[in-house]
Amino acid sequence: MCYDTLFTLDGTHIRGYLLTRLIGNGSFGAVYEGKCGLDTIAMKVSTEEEDLQIEAATLQKLYYSDVSPKFHFTGRYGPYHIIGLELVGPDLELLRDKAAWKSFKRHTLVRVTYQAMKCLEAVHKMRIVHRDVKLANFAVTLPTNPENRVVVKILDFGLSHNYADEDGTLREDSRNLDLRAMKYASHDVNIGCDVMPKDDICQLSFAVIYASGFDFAQQLKLPAKQLLDWKQELIRKPEDTLPHQTKVMLPFFDIVGELDDVRPINYSLIKERIQACMPEINVASDLILTEDDGEPLLV
Ligand SMILES: Nc1ncnc2c1ncn2[C@@H]1O[C@H](COP(=O)(O)OP(=O)(O)OP(=O)(O)O)[C@@H](O)[C@H]1O
Ligand SMILES: [Mg+2]
Repeated sequence: MCYDTLFTLDGTHIRGYLLTRLIGNGSFGAVYEGKCGLDTIAMKVSTEEEDLQIEAATLQKLYYSDVSPKFHFTGRYGPYHIIGLELVGPDLELLRDKAAWKSFKRHTLVRVTYQAMKCLEAVHKMRIVHRDVKLANFAVTLPTNPENRVVVKILDFGLSHNYADEDGTLREDSRNLDLRAMKYASHDVNIGCDVMPKDDICQLSFAVIYASGFDFAQQLKLPAKQLLDWKQELIRKPEDTLPHQTKVMLPFFDIVGELDDVRPINYSLIKERIQACMPEINVASDLILTEDDGEPLLV
């Protein structure tokens, strides 16, 4: 199969939408902006049919939860599989990259953590694990109000899995993905356990460390055993292990370290602990997307 046009589809019409701009690209897919009259959407184009079908089904399940882009349609274009979905704004990886010192300020960090946690709570409530929690898989909405208030949404359900039936019976993933080698996976996933909701939250805690300005990419280059030990220490003794930039988030890391796969996760308590990281502000207050020297800035 010839997939060499995946990243050069701008100018193409698909489903009445003109692809105007490549917004993002991954290993098997590309995300474009698509325009039809006044309507602008995102169009995810992929070579991986099964992953995209799972993503489409998951986005449909989450439609009314308001934590992910709204699903519009699925389709095909030549060898590609397509999802049309709500266009959102810049992702958190890009916003971190554009921020001074490549780090979110504390008051932004706690509010981003709070909102990302709310996204995971809604996803887990549907008995879905995301399994690919990282800054690039969260984005803020496009500001539609004069104050430029935005909220965090969770993206990219290509690796997600509906892990349990309504009665709680665990479900196997027929794709048999081996996530052990995923460097930014939780300690338990690295040692071969199935991904459970607490592992998504653990991955979020790594994203928080990265968002605070720590060079997480460098950390991931450690030899596997050393990286695994660091992840375990982070759970056992966050106060001694957290990089200094992330220390403000200690109450959050304390509770992440207490999570297991047996006891139900108390999301309200986790959100309270995030609030405890910075009692002087309301962590549930809105984020604002502004500009600094022509670059997007999240405050
Ligand atoms: N609905 C959307 N609106 C605007 N931008 C989006 C949207 N969905 C995705 N993006 C952008 O495209 C990037 C890639 O999207 P996504 O993560 O869904 O695809 P992917 O191919 O699975 O990526 P990867 O393999 O790198 O994880 C995101 O990081 C984000 O910057
Ligand atoms: Mg992605």
